[in-house]
Amino acid sequence: MDDSIRFLLENAAHTVKKLGLSDEKILQQLYEQCTDYAILTDGHPPLSSAAAEEFLALPEGKTIQDKFILGLFAPDDTLVGMLETIRHYPDEKSWWIGLMMLSPEHRGKGLGSQLYQAYETWVIQQSAQFVCLAVLEENQPGFNFWQKLGFEVIRIAPPQQFGNKVHRRYVLRRQV
Ligand SMILES: CC(C)(COP(=O)(O)OP(=O)(O)OC[C@H]1O[C@@H](n2cnc3c(N)ncnc32)[C@H](O)[C@@H]1OP(=O)(O)O)[C@@H](O)C(=O)NCCC(=O)NCCS
Repeated sequence: MDDSIRFLLENAAHTVKKLGLSDEKILQQLYEQCTDYAILTDGHPPLSSAAAEEFLALPEGKTIQDKFILGLFAPDDTLVGMLETIRHYPDEKSWWIGLMMLSPEHRGKGLGSQLYQAYETWVIQQSAQFVCLAVLEENQPGFNFWQKLGFEVIRIAPPQQFGNKVHRRYVLRRQV
């Protein structure tokens, strides 16, 4: 684990830490707890290689140094959520959130909002001006979540294949 990135949520109980390759097993467990989200996205449960692939997947032109997988840890140090982000993407002024998910029993209690707020504070310190992301049209609760945090739709991405499914996605942005 990279100890250089570590912060607390507003509740002062949950910790956020950058995950590294040695955390693949706990990240895979989180993916499996979030099977509902894999089914919504891909139409099938997570692959056994989901976490390993997450550490390697990069948008064109970006390197592994640009990618941060932040783990959300409960007070007993179990991984209960994650936020994956790419710096300076899709442009120099922006940070892109590729995925954020919490295990089902930790959702709907304000933790996701606190994780996002802590992340935003951190990216502002890194001179970010915008945070961008895409949310599946089918993911209405996810869309509501981002809208409540002040994100606005800037465009609709054309239909794209994800596993067994095809999705339209809203591209959202927030000035930070
Ligand atoms: C989206 C997600 C990260 C939000 O985190 P969270 O801790 O559940 O969100 P919060 O408790 O801070 O909720 C804030 C608002 O988000 C909305 N929300 C989004 N997803 C929700 C869920 N699964 N359960 C309850 N509320 C949800 C609600 O409108 C809630 O409003 P409220 O404050 O009036 O209750 C989390 O629900 C999750 O991991 N969902 C599955 C994966 C996913 O959809 N990720 C987003 C991909 S773009």
